[in-house]
Amino acid sequence: MNDKYELLYEGKAKKVFSHDDKDKVIIEFKDDATAFNALKKAKFEGKGKLNCLISSRIFELLIKNNIPTHFLELKNENTMIAQKIKVIPLEIVLRNTAYGSLCKQTTIKSGTVLVKPLIDIYLKNDELNDPLITKDRIELMNIISSKDLDLIIDLTLKINLILKSFFKSIQLQLVDFKLEFGYNLKNNILLADEISPDNCRLWDLNQKNDIIVSLDKDRFRNDLGGLIEAYSEINRRINDFI
Ligand code: TMP
Repeated sequence: MNDKYELLYEGKAKKVFSHDDKDKVIIEFKDDATAFNALKKAKFEGKGKLNCLISSRIFELLIKNNIPTHFLELKNENTMIAQKIKVIPLEIVLRNTAYGSLCKQTTIKSGTVLVKPLIDIYLKNDELNDPLITKDRIELMNIISSKDLDLIIDLTLKINLILKSFFKSIQLQLVDFKLEFGYNLKNNILLADEISPDNCRLWDLNQKNDIIVSLDKDRFRNDLGGLIEAYSEINRRINDFI
């Protein structure tokens, strides 16, 4: 990144830089991958570029469907311009199918299609290992008002309907995903962060038998190999469709 831009924040998968316009930021997607709160780390050449391209297309789709997001434009293959936001320290997970931590923490069988989407909210705090949090604890900690929390939940459910149907049309089952939101300088709530195979579980529907083929970060989490091939396949299907 050009020296004139100041590094404002560096996360596990992205760097956020200042922009000439104080209302905007430049987000650079890194090739780093982490899992289990960074206990497991690796680098995959080309992952940053793929996630940036995939996220941009998904944000465009959501904006077309009247979802407010921080995305403004793709700058180049691994950087995007976004509205500057104050991140709300919550991770909103929506699950359509039981998998991952839900099955480790409950007796629900892996792969069970849920009768209605389940929303699990986690506190975004690496030191505390992103614990599952309740509405009452969010209120107690004064993180956001209950009105804003309801708005975020409502947006998450709407986003699910849009994404589920979009991914189905490119032969992918949207198992679950994680969203982050923030306030822009006008204090409006916007969808932020990224939407990519790093934070969505996507299963290939082009399989003849019932075997699960993950085309997402579970390839790294569960040592399945072929992460870049899977992300490239998602990017290819999105580009062929849109
Ligand atoms: P989980 O089953 O591990 O709780 O994950 C649910 C979804 O959230 C899955 O799509 C992966 C995503 N996720 C993140 O994006 N970041 C995280 O730190 C975690 C734990 C999950």
